[in-house]
Amino acid sequence: MVKKVSVGVLVSGSGSNLQSLIDHIDQGALDAEIRLVLSNNPDAFALERCRKHGIPTVVVDHREFASRELFDGRMIEILNAAGVELVVMAGFMRILSPEFFRAFPLRIMNIHPALLPAFPGTHVQQKAVDYGVKFSGCTVHFADEGVDSGPIIIQAVVPVYDEDDAESLAARILKEEHRIYPQAVQYYAEGRIEIEGRRVRIRNLCRTTEKAAQNPPLTIY
Ligand code: GAR
Repeated sequence: MVKKVSVGVLVSGSGSNLQSLIDHIDQGALDAEIRLVLSNNPDAFALERCRKHGIPTVVVDHREFASRELFDGRMIEILNAAGVELVVMAGFMRILSPEFFRAFPLRIMNIHPALLPAFPGTHVQQKAVDYGVKFSGCTVHFADEGVDSGPIIIQAVVPVYDEDDAESLAARILKEEHRIYPQAVQYYAEGRIEIEGRRVRIRNLCRTTEKAAQNPPLTIY
């Protein structure tokens, strides 16, 4: 039996990744307990999702704080009081201060809708389309003080097609986000994550056959 990991989820918007975590917990696939969902945005749809599932929520509106440090300090207090071990950022659109990272060292995960280190920052699906890459995807990583720069835990790759725009690509990526985020948290719950510098290893993996992907497809052999 895997001990459930106590999770605090940070959100700002729709919360579809939060929903995927909730669904995987409900299905018994994810050994986690969501102690608390914290939103900086009082109108986040994610809060509505929590109401449906009886998950406690707190709104900490960043506009009510004189500085980032005060805002982060309040979040730290709340997460600690709720007994949160792992902080999961799920579409949380605020930059965190060094103090926050010190409070949860290597215990903060983030999901980003690109194949890091390509396209950190914002509007990344548009940037991927504009650049003309043939693959993009998503990345779950431990968050550090840089922008989308911490050690990578898991990535999923999706093709980018000629007819794609930012919206169609974002939808394809989001489907994969909903699969890899619960998996990353489950690896954590199982105590299988090993971090050495930038490299994250998962203990006792069964490697599937080595497979390369091409886009556009090969027509000669
Ligand atoms: C997701 O695509 C997530 O990767 C992205 O925001 C979306 C949130 O969707 N996060 C970032 O861009 C963080 N830099 P959700 O609220 O439906 O989970």
